[in-house]
Amino acid sequence: MQYGYFDNDRREYVITDPRTPMPWANYLGSPAYGAIVTQNAGGYSFVQSGAAGRILRYTFNQFDEPGRYIYLRDEADGDFWSASWRPVEKPLDQYRTVTRHGTAYTQIESGYRGIESRALYYVPLDATHEVWRLEIKNTGDTKRRIGVFGYAEFTTESFYTQDLVNMQYTQFITVTEFHRDHILQRINQFCDLNADGENGRERFFGLAGAPVCSYTGRRERFLGVHRFHEPQALLNGKLDDTVNFNGNPCGALHTVIDLAPGESKTVVFLLGQKGEKEARALLDRYQDAGKTVDQEWRALIAYWHGKLNNLFVQTPDEDLNTMVNTWNAFQCYITFIWSRAASLIYAGERNGYGYRDTVQDIQGIIHLDPEMAKERIRFMLSAQVHHGAGLPLVKFNHRPGHEDTPEQDSYVKSTGHPHYRADDAMWLFPTVYKYVAETGDRDFLSEVIPFADCDEGTVIEHLRRAIDFTMHHLGAHGMPAGLHADWNDCLQLGAQGESSFVAFQFYLALKKLDELLPDQPEYREYKSWLNETAKDMLEKINRYFWEEDRFLRGYTQEGAIIGSKRDSEAAMWLNPQSWGVISGAATREQAEKSMESVHSLLNTPNGIELMAPCYKRHYFNGAAMKLFNPNTKENGGIFCQTQGWAILAEALLGHGGRAFEYFKESCPSAYNDRAEIREVEPYVHSQFIEGHETPQPGRAHVHWLTGTASTVMVGMVEGILGLRPTPDGLCISPAIPAAWDGFTMEKTFRGKRLHITVDNSAHHEGGVRKLLVNGRAVDAGVLTDDKIVDGDEITVVM
Ligand code: GLC
Repeated sequence: MQYGYFDNDRREYVITDPRTPMPWANYLGSPAYGAIVTQNAGGYSFVQSGAAGRILRYTFNQFDEPGRYIYLRDEADGDFWSASWRPVEKPLDQYRTVTRHGTAYTQIESGYRGIESRALYYVPLDATHEVWRLEIKNTGDTKRRIGVFGYAEFTTESFYTQDLVNMQYTQFITVTEFHRDHILQRINQFCDLNADGENGRERFFGLAGAPVCSYTGRRERFLGVHRFHEPQALLNGKLDDTVNFNGNPCGALHTVIDLAPGESKTVVFLLGQKGEKEARALLDRYQDAGKTVDQEWRALIAYWHGKLNNLFVQTPDEDLNTMVNTWNAFQCYITFIWSRAASLIYAGERNGYGYRDTVQDIQGIIHLDPEMAKERIRFMLSAQVHHGAGLPLVKFNHRPGHEDTPEQDSYVKSTGHPHYRADDAMWLFPTVYKYVAETGDRDFLSEVIPFADCDEGTVIEHLRRAIDFTMHHLGAHGMPAGLHADWNDCLQLGAQGESSFVAFQFYLALKKLDELLPDQPEYREYKSWLNETAKDMLEKINRYFWEEDRFLRGYTQEGAIIGSKRDSEAAMWLNPQSWGVISGAATREQAEKSMESVHSLLNTPNGIELMAPCYKRHYFNGAAMKLFNPNTKENGGIFCQTQGWAILAEALLGHGGRAFEYFKESCPSAYNDRAEIREVEPYVHSQFIEGHETPQPGRAHVHWLTGTASTVMVGMVEGILGLRPTPDGLCISPAIPAAWDGFTMEKTFRGKRLHITVDNSAHHEGGVRKLLVNGRAVDAGVLTDDKIVDGDEITVVM
């Protein structure tokens, strides 16, 4: 089944059939004022926190209601419909609709009985209110009179669970008022008032561009007994001019528009958490409806497209182009900005950034926006405890230098995290390295940044302490301990148990730090310690973690091996194999063998399973994934984040065909015409895909906010496309299907725009035979800054 298509020129996904298996969503605004909207106009809005700042009600797990509804009504005969297919659901042979999900805006275009409407939803850049612009056109040859009704269902109070379940309280704390062109909602109307008589909890829903003909602030008066698909207000043709006192508030406004044949008109609904004065000022600003919106929308597009343009690729594969140029990149920004804050799956209760998630998310945007990345790297370094570990959860209002830590009850109480993870601070190494490599900004390494609880140090000092933390947490064989979790949240190996994943991360960390440290006398001793330790680790990895054709996953607290081919369950794991390669610890022979085992034992048509066979009966105590159904999430599901590492590992080995195969099998857009398999949006990665043993292999879950975005992006950019910056310059070494003749890339690198052509007329899978700058041959290694200027034509001959 196909429900839509990619309009790559406009960087939009266009939904042509609204009956998608799940609501297909888009993101508007930022967590300062965030909004999620689907093709049914479903979704919610919030200020600062999805859980604690909810202003539009949304019922989780209850299909796709309510939403930002705009109803249209033919005043001549009372027939009514909605600007999005739902809620009214007119028959689709009479009602034509497409939804254009773009970069931080969504436009729903519909046509019914000679009336065309375009409802544009967005949050202006840097603003904390949202706009619903409705353009309505009479395409027929008779005059029409159309009633327009906007409906916003306010929460009774900002904390969403209170709103939904604590009704003996929340139904009695709020009122609505009507002011000429808007409904104003007040909460606890006589409490905490400032000089203007307000308390900051006011919300408004207003109309600009046309007069309000009738209104209500009472949800039940709008809906009556029939609910969203047949509201009483639409049956009546007008609202009853009531406001809310106790019960459910809403903002509902009605206007009437006369349209001559061919004529179109525009009105604007505005929504936000604003008091009367601010609401008034905003509504005045939008009286010219069309103009203000056009400017804001153009600015929004310019902002996002400008960011995405920093890398533009044209390969023979449309999916790759679509994902790398637009959708995977946009998703990387969304996960970077929103973390795991709010979606149709995450309610927004996690009050902060997960350490590993965020440090990984940063990697997804470094190639597009190193400055934005740098700021967040600083922030995450400031969330490292003085002994080197990362705080498991970094509060949104994190106070560097003054934070409590998992050692203290207060931190545990406010975050629910009593333990450190073995991997959290290890992610800093590839992330800091990528930033320095992308920018050449080595000065960053000597910038002084506070630790989370006390003390401060240069970036190098932060990295050294991360190394110290691991060195102070070694298990029974002297390998990095698994602690409460490594990357895998469900793998509790304990203080004596050991994780091969962290061992590979640690090995990589030692190597990267050595590469970053300047060759200066003050570092000589430390650098040789780094190299000695790396050698020792490598020797132990080979002694304790290698088994014939695979790397083991680890040792339990009790010393049992996890991931041996002799095990009846969980005998083969993906991550140790891909990380063996990524870390550089695997020999060529180990790499070839172990990645081949991945292909033969874990690969499916929809992606690579995390491990196999999944746990059913023979699990150990610390295997929390036993809670999940087989082939689901960490219990042997296709955990999509790890697909990115497999792509990268194969590409680093020069196996372009295999890397591309892995990209394609879990690539959302590649399922566009088989969307019933994945069910979720074909334009964004999901957290996991069901493995081969479930009733619906290939079904994907947990959309948008997932680490998959960044790892697959890194796998594509550094792996397949082969753009691998080093602190000295740019190294380009693609790994692509042998069948490709080549491809082109436009990349902004250290302020220079480079036009890169990859010539694969020899039909290789990897390896660079010749490198030319403006037609002149240069060393086929790193393109140092002195070899390239803005506008250079670079040719890579494979
Ligand atoms: C989820 C978590 C992430 C973890 C992964 C594997 O995606 O957000 O932190 O690494 O699961 O357990």
